[in-house]
Amino acid sequence: MTDDNRLPDEADGSLAFAHPSEREFAQILDFYGLKWEYEPRSFPLKWEGDRVLEMLTPDFYLADLDLYVELTTLKQSLVTEKNRKIRHMGEMYPDVNVKLLYRRDYHRLLAKYGFGPLAQAEVRGIDRVLFTAPQIERRVAQLGRQISRDYKKREPVLVGVLRGMLCFMADLMRDISLPVEVEFMATSSYRGEDQSSVRITKDLDAGITGRDVVLVEDIVDSGMTLNYLVGYLRSKDPASLEVCALLDKRARRIVDVPVKYVGFEIPDEFVVGYGLDYLEKYRNLPFIGTLKPDPNG
Ligand code: IMP
Ligand code: MG
Repeated sequence: MTDDNRLPDEADGSLAFAHPSEREFAQILDFYGLKWEYEPRSFPLKWEGDRVLEMLTPDFYLADLDLYVELTTLKQSLVTEKNRKIRHMGEMYPDVNVKLLYRRDYHRLLAKYGFGPLAQAEVRGIDRVLFTAPQIERRVAQLGRQISRDYKKREPVLVGVLRGMLCFMADLMRDISLPVEVEFMATSSYRGEDQSSVRITKDLDAGITGRDVVLVEDIVDSGMTLNYLVGYLRSKDPASLEVCALLDKRARRIVDVPVKYVGFEIPDEFVVGYGLDYLEKYRNLPFIGTLKPDPNG
């Protein structure tokens, strides 16, 4: 395996992907500044003598994360076979990290940026309440106490990522019994081909060099936004940097950024309320709930 074996094999010099979803996934990785190689390595799974009978060639290798990603946008009937191979690979190459993204995962990833078949789906209000206002209040108070203990005698800067952390940070800061400062940041999100990399649309107003920084997020999903923000804040040389997220959708993580303070782990479902939106709506709900899809939508 060479360091950069991307072979330009299309007329325009770009790389030929086996599937359009792979090209799009590559664009998303580019957007978030994650370096990738396309199918750089095959893993033999079954031999007969020196003939390889079965092997798996994951679609992407993300060198900085030492992670292989396999996009399974195939029909469900083919997924079982793919799963078997991935499991087999896990047994034979236990030190190799592979992440399998199913068609549904992939469509949800795209939908978040407003693309693909699930984008802009009609919804008919709230389906289920996951966390009531009192449950949120209790948990946020616990986080506030924990941060107050961990940062005793220090004056942390809370950096909120607009706009989803709005309710969370407002409550959290009042549960911290230390002098704190607050700052806000915002980034652009993936919009397809018309913008090639993530941009900071609202930067910090004050310097954070030498400060104890707590990055406050609403929810960590793929982790790509957080990874970018953590990289950016690190470059400013804070004395320390930790992440505090109200919600963690572990199951969907692509980039595994350490999150020290987590309010709640949630299943892989789209949630709204308490600052979180769907197409800019539902932020003002006092609870956190899932959305009901419109059956006619
Ligand atoms: P990531 O880069 O994939 O981790 O995306 C994180 C961002 O996507 C969060 O800061 C949210 O703004 C948004 N997001 C992810 N999941 C949800 C959800 O279930 N509800 C509302 N916003 C979400
Ligand atoms: Mg956000």
